[in-house]
Amino acid sequence: MKALFVNGSPRKNWNTYKMLESAMKGASDSGAETELVNLYDSPAKGCISCFACKVKNSKTNGLCAYRDSLTPILQKALESDIIVAGSPIYFSNVTALTRAFLERLMFPVLSYNGKYDPETHTMESRILTRDIYTAMIYTMGYPDEEGIKDFGYLTMFHETERFMRQLFGYSETLYAYNTYQFADYSRYDVAEGIEPMKAKWREERFPEDLRKAYELGKRLVSLAK
Ligand SMILES: Cc1cc2nc3c(=O)[nH]c(=O)nc-3n(C[C@H](O)[C@H](O)[C@H](O)COP(=O)(O)O)c2cc1C
Repeated sequence: MKALFVNGSPRKNWNTYKMLESAMKGASDSGAETELVNLYDSPAKGCISCFACKVKNSKTNGLCAYRDSLTPILQKALESDIIVAGSPIYFSNVTALTRAFLERLMFPVLSYNGKYDPETHTMESRILTRDIYTAMIYTMGYPDEEGIKDFGYLTMFHETERFMRQLFGYSETLYAYNTYQFADYSRYDVAEGIEPMKAKWREERFPEDLRKAYELGKRLVSLAK
């Protein structure tokens, strides 16, 4: 069983990576063959709306027709049984390259030609004939979970999960907040009191987030078996 972990943070060894690393350990401890890719290793575009994946008799078969450095990653994702994508929150959304990855992963596997229900305006849109077990992991600096709800982050998480479940058959969401941002806070222009508050959280709460990520990795493998 193949499990692909996609790091949508430009930082290769920070909070998002740590969460992915834990999930990856959970998956490999459960027997999956795991691989991690860093989206920021090379520049890529989001969906360019070429509609090659929607044209009649399209041969794209679920793979985005636009070719760039994202293509081998998208190919790997479609060959995987499990996809876990991680992203920091940047201005209340995923990072630019996570967005590019999601658009180009999801749009080619979405059919416009399913059975349409005029009452609910819903359409059978899945083209994949097997399930891929997917999850999103988000990390963010905001220190208060209530605020995260007020800012609408949960709505964004929910919408992404809904699309992924619709297209791949299964999806879940995990997030860690109040993340520690700098290796050395003394170098940065940051209000007093922030660093100790973040350091305490990193020691007391982040390990619990990592444990949840580990469990997520294990769970996805057991579901995919
Ligand atoms: C450009 C930028 C925008 C950010 N915007 C937000 C934000 O809107 N909400 C938030 O909670 N954190 C925000 N953050 C903080 C990051 O989400 C947080 O530090 C995250 O854990 C970073 O992930 P990393 O350690 O894997 O790089 C922002 C950080 C950057 C660099």
